Amino acid sequence: MKGVILAGGSGTRLHPLTRITNKHLLPIYDRPMISYAIESLVISGITEIMLVTGGTHAGEFLRLLGNGDEYGIDRLLYAYQERAGGIAEALGLAMRFVGEDDVLVMLADNIVEQTFLPTVERFAEQGKGARILLSEQENPEHLRHLGVPEFDADGKIVRIIEKPEHPPSPYAVTGIYCYDASVFEIIGGLVPSGRGELEITDVNNWYVDQGSMAYDVLEGFWGDAGESIQAYYEVNDFVRRNGVNKT
Ligand code: G1P
Repeated sequence: MKGVILAGGSGTRLHPLTRITNKHLLPIYDRPMISYAIESLVISGITEIMLVTGGTHAGEFLRLLGNGDEYGIDRLLYAYQERAGGIAEALGLAMRFVGEDDVLVMLADNIVEQTFLPTVERFAEQGKGARILLSEQENPEHLRHLGVPEFDADGKIVRIIEKPEHPPSPYAVTGIYCYDASVFEIIGGLVPSGRGELEITDVNNWYVDQGSMAYDVLEGFWGDAGESIQAYYEVNDFVRRNGVNKT
């Protein structure tokens, strides 16, 4: 399985911090944010990774990560996103790198207390389709800024709603997704959403409609450090107090 880490976007929700650097280079406790996503993939056995970034600070990732040796990466490739066209568009840049393999995609502002090795193993058994990670949230207000799944009576996802006004469940769709290689055909057929981006939720709903979407619920803390300044500091506090990427 290949790994794709998405570290682009304009980071407007963290302005003015992100006027002077890429969001994923901001510190989380004692390291740049991006290093947590890399660590979680490597711990989960994924060591062939493409990092997709963009904007004016892309070169700093090379300076930080080099060829990935220090981080336990076997093969590290970089792709440059010319404009902030959405998560699905950024993933599309990894098409040739992924080839016919499965891929685990992680948004580099997501921080997890427990790594997702069990999900990687279950997806290998699943063989095709998609598998996403959910995180139960106490605060419904928070869910209005995220993707939220709706379930049927058997606990199967029937659709995912992006940034719902009335969240249909207490679960957030985290930014950690496993896909088979058909994801690139789906991306090719997407149309931009109201905010002019190719949405990862549209990709996920395609798999839901095909009946090939599975999920796991993440245990422990999950944070989206790019969601707001408040969330950024909550993630920092958690990491400093408890540590993350535990197995
Ligand atoms: C994206 C996804 C959303 C998901 C979130 C997790 O939102 O669109 O479904 O819940 O990442 O971090 P964004 O952060 O781009 O608003």
